[in-house]
Amino acid sequence: MSSEERFREYREYIQQYLEEYYSRFDSQPQKRLFEAIRYSLLAGGKRLRPIFAFEFCRLAGGDWKNAAPFAGAIEMIHTYSLIHDDLPCMDNDDYRRGRLTNHKVFGEAMAVLAGDALLTDAFALASTAKLPNPAQMSLAIGVLSENAGSLGMVGGQVLDMLSQQRECSEQEVLDIQSRKTGALINAACVLGAIAGGAGEAQIKAAAGFAGCLGLAFQIRDDMLDVIGDAGELGKATGHDADKNTFVRLYGLEKCEELVQKYTNAAIEQLQAFQDAGDLISLAQSLTARRT
Ligand code: IPE
Ligand code: IPE
Ligand code: MG
Ligand code: MG
Ligand code: MG
Repeated sequence: MSSEERFREYREYIQQYLEEYYSRFDSQPQKRLFEAIRYSLLAGGKRLRPIFAFEFCRLAGGDWKNAAPFAGAIEMIHTYSLIHDDLPCMDNDDYRRGRLTNHKVFGEAMAVLAGDALLTDAFALASTAKLPNPAQMSLAIGVLSENAGSLGMVGGQVLDMLSQQRECSEQEVLDIQSRKTGALINAACVLGAIAGGAGEAQIKAAAGFAGCLGLAFQIRDDMLDVIGDAGELGKATGHDADKNTFVRLYGLEKCEELVQKYTNAAIEQLQAFQDAGDLISLAQSLTARRT
């Protein structure tokens, strides 16, 4: 099986899995909420976080499908973060994943509530994972909440927002990006490894990979805001000019080097796993991604 085939299988599986998860609620009266949730959650996107969760589960020696509750939960939290990130009170964006943003279609109140529901439902889904013992589950829920919450993604979004009025140091930008984007990627990799039965060394390696890959990923995101094509990306470009991005700190050329540097550092962490070739190809392909 080629790496493309493997990752396509993961992508199709998570799409179906999330569709089924929410189709169970079809008879509920709060139909508009479920429409709003499905509108953003099932719109596509690269599904990178689920792919990482499945692949780390496999690399740790587990059946990759064991990671599905975590993969689904993280994609739900990621989607909620995007819905809220696009709100007029935050980035004020009109397009996401190739369609109008959630609040443009459903209104701001419903967009806020769809995000709230996705975040909360994610924990219900994560708690259905089959792990060998309760200690593993409490570790997993701790990893998920820490990465999603005030210390992780939400904390990063706050620092991102408050830093717009001033110039940040490199260290500050690294910290913002590690939290706002790196944290959920960390959760995906670590929870995948846990679902696969990884020991401490492999969990540490998964986290190390995520830390570096997350930085490379957000630097590329910031580059695409300048050099990307809105049609291809499915979201607007040129919106982050006044933000503390690496592009602003260093310019595009140096950013290209940094993306490569952090990707190489991420790949080095994969020595803890056998058969990491597909993941290495994926990481490398992300350095030049256009979407
Ligand atoms: C976009 O994430 C927001 C960031 C954290 C940079 P993705 O680029 O993974 O978005 P989707 O899931 O493919 O839409
Ligand atoms: C958002 O970063 C990261 C999130 C936690 C959602 P951006 O604001 O740069 O993401 P895009 O460019 O809108 O996808
Ligand atoms: Mg933002
Ligand atoms: Mg944004
Ligand atoms: Mg961006």
